[in-house]
Amino acid sequence: MLLLSAKPVVEKLNHEVFLRVKEVTKKLGRAPKLSVILVGNDPASQIYTSKKGEAAVKLGMLHESHHLPASVTPQEVKKLVDRLNEDPTVDGILIQRPLPKSFIEEEVVYWVDPSKDVDAFHPENAGRLVLGLPCFRPCTPHGVMEILDHYGLSVSGKTACVIGRSSIVGKPLGSLLLQRDATVFQCHSKSPDLKKIAASCDFLFVAVGRMGLVGQDYIKKGAVVVDVGIHRNAQGKVVGDVLFDEVKDIAQAITPVPGGVGPMTIAVLMQNTVWSAEKRAVKSMK
Ligand code: GUN
Repeated sequence: MLLLSAKPVVEKLNHEVFLRVKEVTKKLGRAPKLSVILVGNDPASQIYTSKKGEAAVKLGMLHESHHLPASVTPQEVKKLVDRLNEDPTVDGILIQRPLPKSFIEEEVVYWVDPSKDVDAFHPENAGRLVLGLPCFRPCTPHGVMEILDHYGLSVSGKTACVIGRSSIVGKPLGSLLLQRDATVFQCHSKSPDLKKIAASCDFLFVAVGRMGLVGQDYIKKGAVVVDVGIHRNAQGKVVGDVLFDEVKDIAQAITPVPGGVGPMTIAVLMQNTVWSAEKRAVKSMK
């Protein structure tokens, strides 16, 4: 069984980004900058956003964090985003999710200028992805593709089952796999015979957010299994949507949790931020 660890992939991507940051900093006369907006005091979000800032700084980029109380109104946050959209020294803007209930996600996704939308949540970027046009890469799904590429696992001509249809992971992952010539089964909680479909596929991607949902009866012998879930179990251990120990001897390859898909998200966010700065550098030369 091949363990699809993120570590070498993240190291490779970070090295490439580090070199690109150096180049673009010379061209722009400033380093690329990522602005992160965090609303409220969700402990997990606080950890994620500080990790994003640390990663940016480590790669030579600038980072600013706007931490606002949960009582802030959507209008106030929109005003801040408008200001950052206009700021020529800001390359990437990220509004950390989840947001308080007073925010309507379907509206918020329109706020960040598509040219600074390093999360790739804006409908313009989401649509361009489906059409196969150049766009920011959705961080987690693209991170999954980087893992497959690094370990030489091609989905072309293979069957792939995606369990999950969220806008952040399941749907864009289905599009990316289709672009690479996989035959994609986009499954969800209402799919009939989910186990049968999953167990018939060469590749299985699990992004449902249900701890330990997927056991051995979902796995085809020799399949590649990618676990996007992350949970803390009753014993305090970090685990995924897949029962790793049950599946590891059936699969050809599997991502661990932690240390699999999770670290890829930030690595792709860094790629997106430097790419945004590079596009700005080209425009500023014209
Ligand atoms: N919350 C969980 N994952 C993400 C992410 O990738 N981006 C943002 N903005 N919020 C998140």
